[in-house]
Amino acid sequence: MQQQRGTWSSNLGFIFAATGSAIGLGNLWKFPFITWENQGGAFVLVYLICIAAVGLPIMMAELLIGRKTQKSSVGALKDAVGPLWRYVGAWGVLGAFILLSYYTVIAGWSLFYFAKTVGWSLNGFPPGFSTGALFGDFVADGALQLGLSAAFSLATVSVVYFGVKQGIERIARLLLPVLFVLLLLMLFSALGMKGSGEALAFIFRPNFAELEPASILEALGHSFFTLSVGMGVMITYGSYIDRTQSVVKASAVIVMLDTLIALVATVIMFSVIFSVEGMAQEVGASTVGMLFISLPELFYSEVPFGALLGPLFYVLIALAALTSTMSMLEVVTAYLIDERGFERRRATLTCGGGVFVFTILAALSLGAVPVVTQMEIPGAMGRLLFGGKAGWFSMADHFISNWMLPTGGLAITIAVGWFMTREATEAELVDGAEPEWFRFGMWRFFIRYLAPAAVASIIIAVMFFGVDFS
Ligand code: PHE
Repeated sequence: MQQQRGTWSSNLGFIFAATGSAIGLGNLWKFPFITWENQGGAFVLVYLICIAAVGLPIMMAELLIGRKTQKSSVGALKDAVGPLWRYVGAWGVLGAFILLSYYTVIAGWSLFYFAKTVGWSLNGFPPGFSTGALFGDFVADGALQLGLSAAFSLATVSVVYFGVKQGIERIARLLLPVLFVLLLLMLFSALGMKGSGEALAFIFRPNFAELEPASILEALGHSFFTLSVGMGVMITYGSYIDRTQSVVKASAVIVMLDTLIALVATVIMFSVIFSVEGMAQEVGASTVGMLFISLPELFYSEVPFGALLGPLFYVLIALAALTSTMSMLEVVTAYLIDERGFERRRATLTCGGGVFVFTILAALSLGAVPVVTQMEIPGAMGRLLFGGKAGWFSMADHFISNWMLPTGGLAITIAVGWFMTREATEAELVDGAEPEWFRFGMWRFFIRYLAPAAVASIIIAVMFFGVDFS
């Protein structure tokens, strides 16, 4: 029996859900970190250009195939482009599966740090306590890692289980406003700190002498990750929108909000870092350092109202992560529903369980279990696909950032730009009676020439120049 497909209750509901997917650890964790590594200013500017010139056109492309076909990624590519293109959709489903498996582990950390900071806020931060040592012991604690990942997985499954409107949309509508308010509070607190001027200058004053070619590609690669494109999320979410809703306007809003939040998060973190003597040298030793090692301590020594903002900050991370993990699970779940005839609840539990097997591998690969930590694919294959890294967490992260997102994105640009007719895409993007040929023409130029060329350069850099984006 054909079951009723899910739909969003309104355009706004869809925007909440899609923005929730886009805003995640990428904005709060990865963007500040890579901005730091790449010396800010010029890098931020390049990133903004990548978002507008490559990310936005691809987001519109994904949403338009979803809206047109009213199917999730595999069926959408098959119907809109052609039978063989379903493999591109399947590639996205695989990507969402892999990304979810380790993203859940980091998301779980926010729960632990929430509990820790609540304890410190109530009982005081122990003098001389080393947050670096805490983090090292914490990631190697297998039982704790498993427990936290399991809790976060369960939360993700519980949302998706209730479907598009009752689950995903409802939670996004609830959590996103909370997230915005929390960030705003933190922004005010951070701007009052003495390092905020230096932070703003670092982020917004471009110095092109410091920009390296690899930074440009890193900005480009991150623009995919942060917008949740290249992996079927926006196709799937687009398949639940009504055919009268504008893809163009929705894309613009989602992209703007995502960019705004990434910048705000960066201003907050850098204001704190620049306010503390010697901190700038300390940060940056590891990707997780800023969020889970430097900041926890600073909340109790430097940040105004830190005892209150500390725990709230980790709530913020958890909320942002949840609205992203649910979108990844939805891609995999929707595949089983649309293509395999599963009923939603059974599909959700099957996918959630399947992904969790790999989450276990990721959770135990950070030192808890030596064989799991050292697991690797030997030889040239392992080096090419996984950068020679060991442990599922690092391998999966490498594979997603360097391979799956760029190749998935490239395939979408070719599918929509070259294998769909001009008329077919125009019918989806140009809704009103107003003459939109100019904007449509620009989009079509970007999706046919600029975006594929830009994305192909990432793939070439990974394959031939050993650049690593993870
Ligand atoms: N956009 C999310 C973030 O910034 C990550 C994500 C990527 C989610 C791809 C879904 C698909 O954290």
